[in-house]
Amino acid sequence: MTELHRAVITGIGAYLPENIVTNEDLSKRVETTDAWIYARTGIRRRHVARDDEMTSDLALAASRQAMSRAGLGAEDLDLIVLATTTPDSTFPATATRVQAELGVTQGAAFDIQAVCSGFIYALSVADNAIKLGQSRNALVIGAETFTRLLDWNDRSTCVLFGDGAGAVTLSRATDGNADDRGILSTHLHSDGRFYNLLYVDGGPSSTGTTGHVRMLGPEVFKHAVNKLSDSVEEALAANGMTSADVDWFVPHQANKRIIDSTAKKLGISTDRIILTVDEHANTSAASIPLALETGVRDGRIKKGDLVVLEAIGGGLSWGASVVRW
Ligand code: UT7
Repeated sequence: MTELHRAVITGIGAYLPENIVTNEDLSKRVETTDAWIYARTGIRRRHVARDDEMTSDLALAASRQAMSRAGLGAEDLDLIVLATTTPDSTFPATATRVQAELGVTQGAAFDIQAVCSGFIYALSVADNAIKLGQSRNALVIGAETFTRLLDWNDRSTCVLFGDGAGAVTLSRATDGNADDRGILSTHLHSDGRFYNLLYVDGGPSSTGTTGHVRMLGPEVFKHAVNKLSDSVEEALAANGMTSADVDWFVPHQANKRIIDSTAKKLGISTDRIILTVDEHANTSAASIPLALETGVRDGRIKKGDLVVLEAIGGGLSWGASVVRW
């Protein structure tokens, strides 16, 4: 039987566009208030990319930081998996542009589309490639210029999202598994019966346009808490653990109320949650690596900590991962 390797996160990077749009700013464009947005979502502000900033630019900045922190050069990478819903072009994969800009000429680079769950999906693909010996050093990116998909006249969606990118490097463990660090497991789900709860009303094969985000928010909300808590329980159980073992809960950052309800259901106290939705809003596939980077940079997440990641988004698609940092 093939010997399974362990994939360890060795570096993390983040990038947020300079331009910040506050709730107050949005209240001048649509019928809304800072009070409504904050009370219903926990969002205070979001970063918005300049017109000439593309998803690959955001991805590149986050990737360079992750590689530098890991001490990895272009010659070391043999896999780039980029999760995005807002690629630079319909094709080729935005990952190939990042690959070229990084100066990587070997290995494979491709995109993954699982909307807000994209980072968990990309992490799962790269983890499996390392486990099976197909990759030694992978770059996993979540990058979005999600605000490009917004209908700025629709107050029920335009206040919810932001732009950004986060990246991690994953490397095959070289020191055995003695200290048990690395991706312990990933768990993916989707159910296309809920396709119409959250979608974009455009696309190359339907309308030939890019389209805008449409969402039945309260319906998505109902699914979110149950599906997220179920998949975290599934992930912990697969490792013989319970929520009492969790040091840090790093959820997809869509809505503070969803995060709090999910954590409550799981019995995870609020002081173990990394929360960035207030500053970033929902950055889709970028939200988990951005939150992880925040927790690592400010010293909360330390080597050896047990970290649980979860996300849900369009599809519906959802999933969770357990990581020993
Ligand atoms: O990452 C992908 C996953 N997506 C999500 O997780 C999003 C899940 N859903 C949500 O986060 C919430 O459903 C929303 C934040 C989108 C909405 O919050 P809600 O508490 O479910 O509000 P609602 O949609 O039931 O709307 C309540 C009221 C409505 O007015 P009426 O019908 O009660 O008179 C809306 O028209 O709030 C109104 N409303 C707003 N008012 C001020 C909707 N958007 C706004 C707004 N400002 N921006």
